[in-house]
Amino acid sequence: MVIPFVTTSLLFFFFFSSVTAAKTHRFVQSISPSSLGLHQPQKLSHLHFFFHDIVGGSNQTAVRVAAAPTTDKSSTLFGAVMMMDDPLTELPDAESTVVGRAQGIYASASTTELGFLMAMNFAFTQGKYNGSSLAVLGRNTVESAVREMPVVGGSGLFRFARGYAQAKTHSFGTLEAVVEYDVYVLHY
Ligand SMILES: *[C@@H]1O[C@H](CO)[C@@H](O)[C@H](O)[C@H]1NC(C)=O
Ligand SMILES: *[C@@H]1O[C@H](CO)[C@@H](O)[C@H](O)[C@H]1NC(C)=O
Repeated sequence: MVIPFVTTSLLFFFFFSSVTAAKTHRFVQSISPSSLGLHQPQKLSHLHFFFHDIVGGSNQTAVRVAAAPTTDKSSTLFGAVMMMDDPLTELPDAESTVVGRAQGIYASASTTELGFLMAMNFAFTQGKYNGSSLAVLGRNTVESAVREMPVVGGSGLFRFARGYAQAKTHSFGTLEAVVEYDVYVLHY
């Protein structure tokens, strides 16, 4: 009669441990995708705008917030960290309609070429997109003709977004760079 006793004890043990497990996971629930509108077909949107990065002067939109002791001796400014709040406009002209802002960080992450880690949100302010945003995390080798960065998510109309952004330098001066962005996103 030893074996039944052991079996019963084990069952007892597993019963109580599964009750404990269920209790500790009560904050997670499986819900129906249609409760969030995910039964609808995905939309593919193409966004096109111009990004203005101004590193000096009276309308500066990007500031250096950190660097390594060796950054200024590096030809690629390796270690520099910039915080930006860059306007996004409909046309290359800075005076054209502002559709949103690129808010976030770009940091020199390459010792051999001008290559930035971009961690930014495109926060849109126009019409029905006002208040919605896209999150971009990627690599930007600014001297390449076309740079591609993943869109890793979004908010508002862009919930569940994924896709990519392509950046092309439109013009480049000592204080201001204008970059053309084509962004392709799948969302609901
Ligand atoms: C700053 O922005 C204002 C308004 O857009 C503009 O009139 C002015 O020329 C700009 N200043 C510089 C230095 O670009
Ligand atoms: C965008 O939304 C903000 C906050 O709700 C509001 O203050 C602003 O006027 C809106 N802008 C446009 C262009 O609709």
